Amino acid sequence: MSSTTGTANIGVVGLAVMGANLARNLAGREGNTVAVFNRSPERTRRLVQEHPEAGFVASEDLDDFVASLSRPRTAIIMVQAGKGTDAVIDGLAERFEAGDIIVDGGNANFEDTMRRERALRERGLNFVGVGISGGEEGALRGPSIMPGGSEEAYATLGPILETIAARVDDEPCVTHVGTDGAGHFVKMIHNGIEYADMQLIGESYDLLRRVGGHDVDAIADVFGAWNDGDLQSYLIEITGEVLRQRDATTGEPLVDVIVDQAGSKGTGVWTVQNAVGLGIPVGGIAEAVFARAVSSKPEQREAVRRAVTSRPDPVAVGEGFEDDVRAALYASKVVAYAQGFDAIIAGAEQYGWDIDLSEIARIWRGGCIIRARFLNRIMDAYRRDTRPATLLEDPYFADVVAQGEAAWRRVVVVAAQSGVPAPGFSSALAYYDALASERLPAALTQGLRDFFGAHTYRRTDREGTFHTLWSGDRSEVEA
Ligand code: 6PG
Repeated sequence: MSSTTGTANIGVVGLAVMGANLARNLAGREGNTVAVFNRSPERTRRLVQEHPEAGFVASEDLDDFVASLSRPRTAIIMVQAGKGTDAVIDGLAERFEAGDIIVDGGNANFEDTMRRERALRERGLNFVGVGISGGEEGALRGPSIMPGGSEEAYATLGPILETIAARVDDEPCVTHVGTDGAGHFVKMIHNGIEYADMQLIGESYDLLRRVGGHDVDAIADVFGAWNDGDLQSYLIEITGEVLRQRDATTGEPLVDVIVDQAGSKGTGVWTVQNAVGLGIPVGGIAEAVFARAVSSKPEQREAVRRAVTSRPDPVAVGEGFEDDVRAALYASKVVAYAQGFDAIIAGAEQYGWDIDLSEIARIWRGGCIIRARFLNRIMDAYRRDTRPATLLEDPYFADVVAQGEAAWRRVVVVAAQSGVPAPGFSSALAYYDALASERLPAALTQGLRDFFGAHTYRRTDREGTFHTLWSGDRSEVEA
């Protein structure tokens, strides 16, 4: 038995930047003694040397790492989601005992988490998928944390996570999201909303530049001003930072020397795939995913640019255009969040999770990439006695969208007339108009489906399901 046996209440496996920062954050909090392990020991040695104040209990093999953990052993895996995660899980599961807790802090697919949780539960082990949002800085200073897993595991893990989470109104931005894969599901939706948020910011920037005629520094000032109001958010704040950045080599705005092809690690695609499967329209997130895909098709873009003979001139806009864009951004953001929360509701119903939406909004107010003042309003909306059918029904949001509606429409028109792509703004407006319309062309869709496929339809004036004998006398029969 070594002097460090059973001395650490929490362990971290995987000491790349995110893992190392999370370990440092844990070690800096009252009551935590942190065990650390990395497959290549050089990383472990470097972390211990660079941060002696952390008092890490360092191990260079997994047996020593496991031995250094006090019961119930609790280890957070911080390795790239995928095959590497399974290898580490297997290594810990072989050495852990009933009641111990294996935590996956990566951006794992929630279905993998549900599979892993089921398999480890059969061995008496707890497996918890935890969404950790806020990037490397958040991991060090205070992320928003979305744990799933069992109540039993949360009894041990929750208090530890509360020591390191971001805090808003002196409340830790962590909550037990729900059982098994609920945490990774909600993190996935967070990332999908992040994509939508970033797309809407990109469209605002593009319109202010190409139609408003503003230069990059002036646009940075506009975002800075927006960040002082209802649009205050981390993404709005850093947009100003990125736009102000000058390229050291050319002296040009950095944004003008970055290749305009957006990448993605996949969580936005997962969000759209799962929302479609759940029957939830997430147009804002989908348009953001598609916009990244379109940007990354240089051959098609080049081919169309060669083929088109003319492009529209930007529409002349007045002083008020900047504020119109702000209103359109806010309204489209409401739609994107409404769609994202609808997907959480549908996921909870599908997978049997009891997710408190107001708690999700609460913990997203700090630490995570989509942190924003506006989440206070969403938290309030979901704390009301009756849950709104959609956030767009909530009195606060209904009012703010109504106030911005005319501006929103002007921006969508100006974008279309100026040849500036604004799929986020326009799909959000179309979604809003669809929900607000008395009648939709879905009636005709039903008629067509019945004509070619006898798929039947319902009537507005009486109960039942009907079919018209299109190839016969066109009389209607009850199906
Ligand atoms: C977070 C971020 C993070 C995300 C990266 C890259 O919550 O800290 O969402 O989890 O993976 O920002 O995401 P994409 O490459 O998919 O844009």
